[in-house]
Amino acid sequence: MQDIKINIQNSDGSITTLDAPTDMGLSLMEFLKGNDYDILATCGGMALCATCHVCVVEGFDKLSEISADEYAMLDTLPNITDTSRLACQLRLNDALDGVVVKILGDS
Ligand code: FES
Repeated sequence: MQDIKINIQNSDGSITTLDAPTDMGLSLMEFLKGNDYDILATCGGMALCATCHVCVVEGFDKLSEISADEYAMLDTLPNITDTSRLACQLRLNDALDGVVVKILGDS
């Protein structure tokens, strides 16, 4: 299987592009943590801590639907955006190819 490209918008507006594998069953949260991004992921990916909050700058419409649990958690955040997601709820797959995300969760 082909790798996909994940783009991370840094706080200075620059973009870092990473190659991500789609055949390991990783979530975007696990992938970002594995690449030394500061995400606490206190709940271990259960959609309960929101420390993996990201804003999807490009590609939001292609992503899997938000579950009720994910939405309920996002809705508690003061900095929720129209394209917010929990990175732990996004599996690395072709739908994520080329997305641009900005990490918003507390670290
Ligand atoms: S890791 Fe806790 S909500 Fe995603």
